Amino acid sequence: MSYAIAIDGPAGAGKSSIARRMAEILDIIYVDTGALYRVIGLAVYREAGMCQDPETISRIADQVEVSLSHNEKGQRVFLGEEDVSEEIRREEISQMASIVSAVPFVREKLLSLQRDMAQCQSVVMDGRDIGTRILPNAEYKVFLVCPAEERARRRLLQLREQGLSGDYDQILADIKERDHRDMTREISPLVKADDAIEFDTTGHTAESSADELIEVLGLCPRSC
Ligand code: DC
Repeated sequence: MSYAIAIDGPAGAGKSSIARRMAEILDIIYVDTGALYRVIGLAVYREAGMCQDPETISRIADQVEVSLSHNEKGQRVFLGEEDVSEEIRREEISQMASIVSAVPFVREKLLSLQRDMAQCQSVVMDGRDIGTRILPNAEYKVFLVCPAEERARRRLLQLREQGLSGDYDQILADIKERDHRDMTREISPLVKADDAIEFDTTGHTAESSADELIEVLGLCPRSC
């Protein structure tokens, strides 16, 4: 019997690291839905810069083909035939993803792609509206929280580990801007599903969070 674990929460709360780790332990597929919005954000950025116009965004989104595949290294995402898995991680694409994700046409376009992934295989899927809209019947639902200041510190550390520099205040402002947009948009805002368990990742590593969640949810690792 296949099952789904929905993990929602704000940017930087640790969703992807925790979900990836849980997928590894449980031997199921990890689906990073934010990457899909990022692909559309990238397509818009390439054609129209930091465009915020819903009509232009819908027109470009209508023309592009977004797809994803999984291999032993994890998920890859494609814009047409092009593998854009690395390029979508750029900072301006993070903001563009948040902007395009508020456009109804974009959310509709990506809906079936996400649901199809959970059709006939077990998945752990992370995003903003997985437990509320994409997989409302998911067997397990988690809502991750973490203060914006802690998330900004983590991001700065991550950049430093990659040999990059970053400004804490700017990172914190970007996180708050994204939180605000994701939580206040009219369609599918970031909100905890009534039946989700809330988990604060402050002071936890991805490994310890994943282990604890697997235990709290009563899931069975592949070794058991
Ligand atoms: O998880 P992420 O940071 O890669 O997501 C990028 C943006 O995509 C995020 O700001 C909000 C949007 N998003 C969404 O609206 N719904 C999802 N299920 C996943 C992401």
